[in-house]
Amino acid sequence: MRESDVMAAAFRAAEVAPALLGWYDRHARALPWRAPPGSPPMDPYRVWLSEMMLQQTTVAAVKDYFHRFTARWPDVEALAAAEDAEVMGEWAGLGYYARARNLLAAARAVAAAGGFPDTRAGLQALPGVGPYTSAAIAAIAFDLPETVVDGNVERVVARLFAVGTPLPAAKKELTALAATLTSAGRPGDFAQATMDLGATICTPRSPACGICPLGHLCRARAQGIQAELPRRTPKAAKPVRHGTVWAALNETSVLLERRPPRGLLGGTLAFPTSGWDGTDLPAPLPGAWIEAGEVRHVFTHFDLRLTVLRGALPDGANPSRGTIVSREEFDPQSLPGLMRKVWALLP
Ligand code: ADE
Repeated sequence: MRESDVMAAAFRAAEVAPALLGWYDRHARALPWRAPPGSPPMDPYRVWLSEMMLQQTTVAAVKDYFHRFTARWPDVEALAAAEDAEVMGEWAGLGYYARARNLLAAARAVAAAGGFPDTRAGLQALPGVGPYTSAAIAAIAFDLPETVVDGNVERVVARLFAVGTPLPAAKKELTALAATLTSAGRPGDFAQATMDLGATICTPRSPACGICPLGHLCRARAQGIQAELPRRTPKAAKPVRHGTVWAALNETSVLLERRPPRGLLGGTLAFPTSGWDGTDLPAPLPGAWIEAGEVRHVFTHFDLRLTVLRGALPDGANPSRGTIVSREEFDPQSLPGLMRKVWALLP
């Protein structure tokens, strides 16, 4: 037996699900994509959409996006019929535009098939749905006994079992231990209860052990090491890339460019930029540019610093790149987050 198996055998695993579900029945967060505890699941479209959005950002930030999407596209057929650019516009600010493309591709595949797949493997065959998301949708929308492991669940399990192995090496061990806890009775509620516990009580710093429904079962708490877990192998520092962004505008118009469909921020509306990786792209107009500041943005594999240059957009200008857009037709909210930072620097 591996060490973790020995620990699982001695751990009072059978007591976890009832204690956690009892707490969830009283304290579940009310979320727009969530059915109340103990009631039938929400429709898979809402569950899938929320999980795709939650891959990107926090529960608080997702609420607005979720309301806007479901008001505009109330079911998967409606989303499947949307124009690409409309969906990219609504997704703006959620980051990673590859996800918005996957969202549409998946909606179209589901609509063509006549409905969502109702198995984890079927769900995982959809674009943009990985092992975590397929387990989450299977458990939450179809009440299948799948083990859902996200960062919150890893933290809860590492503490419950006092797993000292650092992440990411500990992932497999934590998943196996989580599987020993999954409730056969209410897997969807169990998955969401674990997420809520991780988000509200078993938080990264200063967990609220005094009010935790699993406090009496928690090995890390018994040893007083809960705040140290899970351990992590330090990440290598990200490389920093530099570039330039040209913002040309006047009182009535702005110069914008649709980025190429593939690659970072693919398909989004942006101010023209240089390359970020040594490749060069020219300024869209000749003339005097004034430095307006610097914006910083964190991508998965690097940190970006862009020098913002502001220039006048003369009447009758003929830029070598981009399109002149009237300010009346321009909604800065439809820009991706990086470009909104640029906009915020412009007087
Ligand atoms: N994070 C990811 N999925 C979630 C969900 N369904 N509920 C709450 N937090 C989540």
